[in-house]
Amino acid sequence: MKIAILGNGGREHAIAKKISESPKLSKLYCLPGNAGTNSIAENVNLDIYNFENLGKFVDENQIDLVIVGPEKPLVEGVVDFLKKKKVKVFGPNKISSQLEGSKIFTKKICEKYNIPTAQFGIFESLKGAHDYLDKINKPIVVKADGLAGGKGVYICEDTVSAKNAVNEIFKGKFGLANQVLIEEFLQGEEMSYFVISDGKTFKKFNTAQDHKRVGEGDKGKNTGGMGAYSPSGLINKDLDLKIIEKIVKPTFAAINDLGETYNGFLYVGLMIKENNPYLVEYNVRMGDPECQTILPLLKTDFLELILSCCEKKLKSQNIEWKNKKSMCIVLCSKGYPEIYKKKVEITNLDKQKNDINSFIYHAGTQLIDDKLYAIGGRVLNFVSISENLKDSRDKIIKKIDDLGWKNGFYRKDIGYKIIDK
Ligand code: AMP
Ligand code: GLY
Repeated sequence: MKIAILGNGGREHAIAKKISESPKLSKLYCLPGNAGTNSIAENVNLDIYNFENLGKFVDENQIDLVIVGPEKPLVEGVVDFLKKKKVKVFGPNKISSQLEGSKIFTKKICEKYNIPTAQFGIFESLKGAHDYLDKINKPIVVKADGLAGGKGVYICEDTVSAKNAVNEIFKGKFGLANQVLIEEFLQGEEMSYFVISDGKTFKKFNTAQDHKRVGEGDKGKNTGGMGAYSPSGLINKDLDLKIIEKIVKPTFAAINDLGETYNGFLYVGLMIKENNPYLVEYNVRMGDPECQTILPLLKTDFLELILSCCEKKLKSQNIEWKNKKSMCIVLCSKGYPEIYKKKVEITNLDKQKNDINSFIYHAGTQLIDDKLYAIGGRVLNFVSISENLKDSRDKIIKKIDDLGWKNGFYRKDIGYKIIDK
């Protein structure tokens, strides 16, 4: 089969690697891909948001299946566009993708279907939001409605910063806004829970723990994710059941009530408090870097699994996992998540020793004249699989230090809540 993967991050390199291991694959394209996918697929430098051009590429190259990595093309309706052309595609359609594309859409579903989540208010005017903030206890969370590349969420300790957040959102910092979401601050521990769905059946697709803050001890600015491990230390049978019954099932019921079916991954972002789950957010794709920790643990042929979803045969498809733990640490460009240098060379990466349990996924990298350059904030994902997360972390830290990339930094404390306690 000829497969095209959309996206260029670490998540897409992990997806490409797993797909490349399938005997069903004949040719793999990454659109646009990165320096890592380049060695296992053909990278094609194409604007994936220009759907007409994407459609032409799919036709001309007789692509059998398109796998969508990131949220933006999903929210913009790439699945609807390709399906209209009768192309097989893995990912949710435009309406279902509103679960990530609009936080207010999701909150309204939570309210209607009694899904546990932070209490909230939706405000359509600056004055209404300010008046509410004068009355309510702090900390409080202020959110822009739409996609904001992980930046539209403000955790506010006092009224002044909360009002500033509301002002920024209404001024259009994240695009035209006529509504703002204000939420109760949830205490607890976060967990990423994944589900794969064919629209008729869904199955759990493992758990992970992400580290979103830039600094050790979970301090500093929010990022796309500085590292993760899988499975999460918080999961247990009772919690699993509550997540499925109270959150996942009613959500798919809500999508069905809209006359839609959900095909793809659903990322359930949770806060866990006293073994009870609260929905923080949905993402309509795999997490990054969670995907880089989860996929290496998968034993089942990934391409077969995705095909079973596209053909609505997930019910009869087993999903098997290695009984191991996995960790990913992200090597970033100094300055990330704010200003950082682009096009900085990385040397000696080819001298790193990789094997089946220890390897590197590329994220913001590009080959220029056969030399490797960092072009993004999150650059390389070091992954290790073992029986024990501490061993994995030690191995990864040694590898990153051996590489000695001067423009890089990383968190040495990934997994600290369960390793170092
Ligand atoms: P989101 O983009 O909605 O995932 O928010 C980004 C991050 O902000 C989450 O991963 C949480 O760490 C934090 N967050 C969002 N909403 C809340 C909330 N209601 N209570 C506490 N933390 C939150
Ligand atoms: N790691 C968080 C995300 O993928 O949104």
